[in-house]
Amino acid sequence: MASHWVKLELDVKNFDAARFAGYVERCRDAGIRLTTLAELGDTPRDRHALYELNKDCSADIPDRGEFYTFEEYLEHRIEVPSYDPRGVVIALDDSVWCGLAATSNHRASGFVFNEMTGVKAPYRGRGISIAMKTFGIGFAGLCGVDKIRTFHHPANTAAIEMNRRLGYVDAEQD
Ligand SMILES: CC(C)(COP(=O)(O)OP(=O)(O)OC[C@H]1O[C@@H](n2cnc3c(N)ncnc32)[C@H](O)[C@@H]1OP(=O)(O)O)[C@@H](O)C(=O)NCCC(=O)NCCS
Repeated sequence: MASHWVKLELDVKNFDAARFAGYVERCRDAGIRLTTLAELGDTPRDRHALYELNKDCSADIPDRGEFYTFEEYLEHRIEVPSYDPRGVVIALDDSVWCGLAATSNHRASGFVFNEMTGVKAPYRGRGISIAMKTFGIGFAGLCGVDKIRTFHHPANTAAIEMNRRLGYVDAEQD
């Protein structure tokens, strides 16, 4: 486990939506559809596809260790009060689930939390993570908060830089 996590926070009031709108457009132009699990129906089949995608992408998180079984994933990530399918952005290339940006609802504590952002390896480096997070930025407002929090292993340069690019800054968190 990391000795110290990189804790990041975005104040959505400062989010420069115009700056990142082009990423969403470029995804669409490339045939990548952005949607949410809620829009897809959040069916058992959707949840299984989400699990497989999350498992695949998590293999590249430093020190992640063995991933959950599907039953454990349901218990820890889905069947919890903070789960909200409106906060789970999916990138689809036809029938291929190529990216996810999953954010959970912690409005009682004043923030939403980026649980996992992942893009399948062959799709990386095309701005898909920025597009997904831009597409999903309204989730914080749906939850009635303006802070998005996350934390990363210090060796996860790609994820840390992705969030800094979006305007996340270092922040002390409880
Ligand atoms: C982190 C991750 C989601 C980035 O997805 P992506 O779609 O390839 O990222 P993008 O193409 O949108 O890049 C966005 C920005 O992130 C940063 N970035 C992305 N990959 C990077 C890398 N390998 N090294 C350094 N910075 C990187 C850059 O700042 C980049 O902007 P730029 O291209 O304009 O310089 C992807 O690498 C991934 O799935 N990693 C494994 C899962 C993971 O670690 N998730 C985070 C833990 S929740």
